[in-house]
Parts: sequence; structure tokens; C-alpha cells
Amino acid sequence: MKDILEAILASDTERPDVAGIPIPSTYQGITVRKDEENMFEGMASRDKDPRQSLHLDDVATPELGPGEALVAVMASAVNYNTVWTSIFEPVSTFGFLARYGKLSELTKRHDLPYHVVGSDLAGVVLKVGVGVSKWKPGDRVVAHCLSVELEDAMGHDDTMMDPQQRIWGFETNFGGLAELALVKANQLMPKPDHLSWEEAACPGLVNSTAYRQLVSHNGANMKQGDVVLIWGASGGLGSYATQMALAGGGIPVCVVSSPDKAEICRSLGAEHVIDRAAEGYKFWKDEHNQDPKEWQRFGKRIRELTGGEDIDIVFEHPGRETFGASIYVTRRGGLITTCASTSGYIHQYDNRYLWMSLKRIIGSHFANYREAWEANRLIEKGIIHPTLSKTYALADTGQAALDVHKNSHQGKVGVLCLAPSEGLGVSNPEKRAKFETAINRFRNV
Ligand SMILES: NC(=O)c1ccc[n+]([C@@H]2O[C@H](COP(=O)([O-])OP(=O)(O)OC[C@H]3O[C@@H](n4cnc5c(N)ncnc54)[C@H](OP(=O)(O)O)[C@@H]3O)[C@@H](O)[C@H]2O)c1
Repeated sequence: MKDILEAILASDTERPDVAGIPIPSTYQGITVRKDEENMFEGMASRDKDPRQSLHLDDVATPELGPGEALVAVMASAVNYNTVWTSIFEPVSTFGFLARYGKLSELTKRHDLPYHVVGSDLAGVVLKVGVGVSKWKPGDRVVAHCLSVELEDAMGHDDTMMDPQQRIWGFETNFGGLAELALVKANQLMPKPDHLSWEEAACPGLVNSTAYRQLVSHNGANMKQGDVVLIWGASGGLGSYATQMALAGGGIPVCVVSSPDKAEICRSLGAEHVIDRAAEGYKFWKDEHNQDPKEWQRFGKRIRELTGGEDIDIVFEHPGRETFGASIYVTRRGGLITTCASTSGYIHQYDNRYLWMSLKRIIGSHFANYREAWEANRLIEKGIIHPTLSKTYALADTGQAALDVHKNSHQGKVGVLCLAPSEGLGVSNPEKRAKFETAINRFRNV
């Protein structure tokens, strides 16, 4: 591993000469262990501590299959899916690995008593499998997390429709929170040259998801002038959705839960910001009943900010807690796009507001290869910027995941894997200089 790292660190502008270096038979990665999947049984979700379940372990390097690539991971990032894996909710991810393992001789490799997690990476290709021609050892890359088999007809229009669609590092093994990662070659995309390893690693999953959900014709297909309600607007998904709304001529209405978070949305350029904590919205009266008066108060506040306009598109992901309000505040004929249910996946809403006003709900999940590529292109062109706030060492991934679990973070939380320090890997400093302020906007806030 030392030789690989030295070759990568030798120059930020020359192509790393890694092709002849032997691949180590083991590597360090962040795992959850199957024999611990019941460790939090009976505990409330908020009390489950990822620091107890995420381990830095030595694991065997997987055999490289056809169409795959082995990547030296310089940096990765924490996504909420790693929080879900680490607290074994809503289900243990070992079920995903077992199911995937039954598919073929090759996928059997994934069904192990440990799960190397992580769905983002920036690094260097070390080796490619049979049949890969687009990528070569030494390529600086980022990886998106869509794993598809594409043996069925269904996936050949929109790859997210593939019946064997999985999220790499969540529903498959050998993820990005590690020194090495195994990906399908069609997960790879060029690393934006003006970013450090940790900056390049952090947008992948959330930026692609936000792109499909808000911009793509498979999602809300946002147009200029659309008023977009963005929940968690300074969080992982929201910090990219806010930038996309602004860059695409939309009018974001950002919802956050603290003055700091409100300030960061304003600094991105958002004019309309609602601090849900300060304004004390309580959409649920008790466990079973919502309070339509609170939906009305929220809708009134939105109209105050927008000069009387209602929401064209809701960017939903909190789920149970907010969904009733989201349906209510959407304009006649508007859209609610949802990709998650952080606060609970059994949603309740008053359907009269949906059908009588001809609103639509669109389910959205990650992004196809084309959408992920377009989203990465926006980063590469400096139209959208990474929202990295803090970086942890690989050994401290448990703490990084705890920050996200406790909602005490801003934007994205990065993890250094092989990279010995922050700030490395920038091969186009002139381009970087143009965007320096925007790249650092979320830093240490
Ligand atoms: N389907 C997919 O492809 C996909 C992709 C990415 C993420 N996800 C899911 O989407 C969810 C969010 O991911 P993320 O990366 O954006 O997480 P994140 O970084 O934690 O951001 C989520 C934000 O949502 C807000 N929020 C949390 N609970 C809320 C509640 N009860 N009511 C209102 N707002 C709430 C918080 O902002 P404030 O406290 O400031 O309001 C928080 O910053 C997770 O469940 C994740 O698993 C799904």
C-alpha cells in the first residue's frame, strides 16, 4: 500500500504510475460485523452509537471480476446510508449481501460476515477487469454508487429501473470507506481537477440524487422561476438541491433548524429561508394526529416570503414528520418529489389536497449513470461546488457517522482514506483559484 500511495503522491499533475505495483492481499476498511447485527436491540434509534458498530478492520482484497475496477481510495464521505447500516436500521444490510450473493458465482464474493461500507470515493484506478476499455490504471476518478447488472430489458431505458439495481457500499460489499474499493467500471467518472481528494469525494451520492430528484426529466424537471421548497437545505442532499435551484433559475425556499444553517443558505444566495426550530412548527399534535393549522401557518409563511406564491416543487426527504405539510403547501398542479423518510416511512397526508388540486408525488432514488455523470460535470465546471464542512481520519469514521446521525453537521462530512492530509490532489490550481470561496463555504461552520 505504501508503494501505491507514494506513486499517487509523487505528483498532482503527472499521471500516477501504479500499473506495475502489486496489489496488497489485504487492506483496511470500515466494516460492520454480522455477529454484531443485534447489538442495539431494544434501544431507541437516537441512542444507537455508530462508534460501537463501525470498525476499522483488515479485510481480504476481493478478486477482480469482468467489467470491474479496483481503486485506491484517497478519500470518501459519510452518507446517511452508512448511518442506517451502522445502526442496523430499518434492516441489517447483511440481508442485502446474502441476496446479492445468490445471484451468480461472481456476486457470491459480496456475501461475507463483514460489510465494508461507504458509497463515495475519490482515488486512482489500480487495475481493471476483463472487458474494461474506458478506464486504465492511473486514472484519477470519482465513483457514483449505482451498481446494476443490466441483464434485464427493464434497465436499458433508465438504469435505475434495472431489477438488479443496488447501491454500492450499502447493498453491496467493498465500499468506499476503505483503502481500496471494488466498483463496476461504469461507476467511474473523472475526478474534477480543481478539487482536493476529500472535496471531490463528498458530492457523489447526494449531488447525483439531488440532480435526478430536482433537475432530471425523471424527477421534477425544474424550470426557471419554479419555487422549490427544500427541506434540510444545508444538509447533504439539501446543500446540492439549493445550489441546483439557484443555478437553474429556480427560487429556493430553504428550511433549516438553526441560525447558522440559515446563514449558510443565505451565503449560497438563497433569499427565502425558514428556521423551522425558531418558528416552532409542530406538524404533529401527537403520535397519531397532525395539526392542519400548522400546515396553514407554514404555508402562510411561505407566501409571506415569496410574495404570495405557493410551492411548485417540494424536495422531500424528512418523510413522516413533514410530508403532510409538504402536500398542503404545494400549488395546484405542483410536484412533491421524495427520496427518503428520515423521520419515518409510514407517511400520512390529507389526500383531498392532492387529488382536488391535481398534485403529483414522484418517488426518486439515486440516479442513473447519465444523471450521475451530468451531476459530476456540474461540479467539474464549477457550477455546483462541494459542501464539505469537516474531514475525519478513516479510523474516526464512527464519530463522523455519529455527527450525521445527531444532525450536528453541515453539508457533507469527509473521510481521509489513503490521503495523509487534506488539500492534496489538486491538479488545476488556476481553475481552483476562481472558485476558492465557494469551495470553502461550508468549511468549519
Ligand atoms: N434515495 C436516495 O437515493 C437517497 C440519497 C441520499 C440520501 N437519501 C436519504 O435522504 C435523507 C437525508 O440525507 P442527507 O444526506 O441529506 O442527510 P443529512 O445530511 O442529515 O441532511 C438532512 C437534513 O434534513 C433535515 N431534517 C432531518 N430531520 C428532519 C425532520 N424531522 N424534519 C425536517 N427536517 C429534517 C435536517 O436539516 P435541519 O435540521 O437543518 O432542518 C438535516 O440537515 C436520509 O434519510 C438519506 O438516507 C436517500
